[in-house]
Amino acid sequence: MVLLVTLGLFGVLYLQVSAAPVNEMKHLRQCKFWHISDLHLDPTYHVTEDHTKVCFSSKGVPALDPGEFGDFLCDSPYQLILSAFNYMKQADIQPEFIIWTGDSPPHVPKEKLSTDVVINVIANMTHTIRQYFPNLSVYPALGNHDFWPQDQLPTSENKIYDAVAKLWSPWLSPAAVPTLQRGGFYSHVIKPGLRLVSLNTNLYYSPNQLTVNVSDPAGQFQWLEETLELSRQNLEKVYVIAHVPIGYLPFATNTTAIRENHNERLVKIFRNYSDVIQGQFYGHTHRDSIMVLLDQQGEPVNSIFVTSAVTPIKSLLEPYSNNPAIRAYLYNPQDYGLLDIWQFYLNLTEANMEKRSEWKLEYTMTEAFDIEDIQPRSLHELALRLAQPQSKAFVKYFNHFMVSYDLRITCDGYCQTAQVCSVQFLDKESYSKCIVKAGGQVD
Ligand SMILES: *[C@@H]1O[C@H](CO)[C@@H](O)[C@H](O)[C@H]1NC(C)=O
Ligand SMILES: *[C@@H]1O[C@H](CO)[C@@H](O)[C@H](O)[C@H]1NC(C)=O
Ligand SMILES: *[C@@H]1O[C@H](CO)[C@@H](O)[C@H](O)[C@H]1NC(C)=O
Ligand SMILES: *[C@@H]1O[C@H](CO)[C@@H](O)[C@H](O)[C@H]1NC(C)=O
Ligand SMILES: *[C@@H]1O[C@H](CO)[C@@H](O)[C@H](O)[C@H]1NC(C)=O
Ligand SMILES: *[C@@H]1O[C@H](CO)[C@@H](O)[C@H](O)[C@H]1NC(C)=O
Repeated sequence: MVLLVTLGLFGVLYLQVSAAPVNEMKHLRQCKFWHISDLHLDPTYHVTEDHTKVCFSSKGVPALDPGEFGDFLCDSPYQLILSAFNYMKQADIQPEFIIWTGDSPPHVPKEKLSTDVVINVIANMTHTIRQYFPNLSVYPALGNHDFWPQDQLPTSENKIYDAVAKLWSPWLSPAAVPTLQRGGFYSHVIKPGLRLVSLNTNLYYSPNQLTVNVSDPAGQFQWLEETLELSRQNLEKVYVIAHVPIGYLPFATNTTAIRENHNERLVKIFRNYSDVIQGQFYGHTHRDSIMVLLDQQGEPVNSIFVTSAVTPIKSLLEPYSNNPAIRAYLYNPQDYGLLDIWQFYLNLTEANMEKRSEWKLEYTMTEAFDIEDIQPRSLHELALRLAQPQSKAFVKYFNHFMVSYDLRITCDGYCQTAQVCSVQFLDKESYSKCIVKAGGQVD
């Protein structure tokens, strides 16, 4: 009974999945933090008769089924974002901090935005978050849309890096601010023994014309290695956050999320410092996926998580989207090893129909996949299961991938191959081997 009272919502949920007293004790020693990403506020969103006029982000295409909380062809109404924050505020999580992996402005043509509009949207999201969570530190990373023109994040000081350094400095230590101003990245000690590294991986994003032939844009690789080296010497553990993820895109073949040569370099650095890094957290794809970094011997050494978006937007031609999602991670306060994910979502169709937002638990990772925790060894065990033909775990994984958007949509054959190769193989050599082994030519 004491457990029920102390843990509230999670106590109840937890007791439904297991009654082992030893594990209950284990859960009491967990710490938690929220992860939000890809809010993509569309301030023009409003429900109106003419569906081509609901939101600028649908780019003239008629919205599908617009309601108070959004539409699958539009970016987030302010109301949707507030419903997520309201849920987070009242949920019995007791988080220690929030990580926020970028992308506040809407997907609209370049002419609809400007440097000032982009700064205003980021400022709006920053102030809204601070208003909801005045007592929590929030650790942001810049996204490719957090700039104007989008994707063109520079390697030196500019108006936007300057603006976010001011907006975010209340959450950060003074030492974090100079690199944020100069290159859009920083590191910050969350508490003694745990450092956060926020990377500006938009510098490696292929549409970024400013960094095409630059081997170390803004000196971020060198800074990262120095930072990780210092952490190792100081016996710190590190959480890495960024917007655009490392590795290969799960929904495409032979396509890295960042530029291939920059991806190779980043993978090498992360392998070198895998003893220091306890987790990596990304956004950008709007989909829920995992990766497990293997070392040269094929041993799992790092756990990597890509979280889904709050925005439900898709383009007209895409067969599926994602329901709005947020998540909490559970970690061990002794060594900062990651223990579990609580994934929450809003069934957008249902919320619009019922005119109220009821955010729900979609799944908890260890329970959904029957794994011990979400450390590299457990994720690797899961990755091997996902790669089996007719894998039941993979069916579930793919439903989670699109945040339960439509359980009738399936992914097998080449679709599954691309997915499962991307989970385990982050560098070109090992990824290509996986694709070739599975039959080579894909679509
Ligand atoms: C953010 O933008 C929304 C929608 O345009 C507006 O209603 C709200 O007042 C703004 N909030 C802040 C804190 O700027
Ligand atoms: C924030 O902390 C202050 C001081 O401890 C407390 O009075 C206030 O209620 C807290 N606010 C929220 C929203 O938790
Ligand atoms: C990058 O280098 C290639 C090969 O040297 C060259 O063709 C290309 O014009 C360069 N691009 C930029 C943007 O500098
Ligand atoms: C990784 O570490 C090895 C040995 O310390 C070093 O030679 C190599 O340059 C490092 N590579 C990267 C990309 O950091
Ligand atoms: C979401 O709500 C719709 C409408 O009520 C329903 O048809 C659908 O099954 C729900 N999806 C999930 C995953 O519960
Ligand atoms: C992907 O790369 C592999 C290995 O280089 C190649 O065999 C395969 O044809 C490529 N697939 C596509 C769709 O480009």
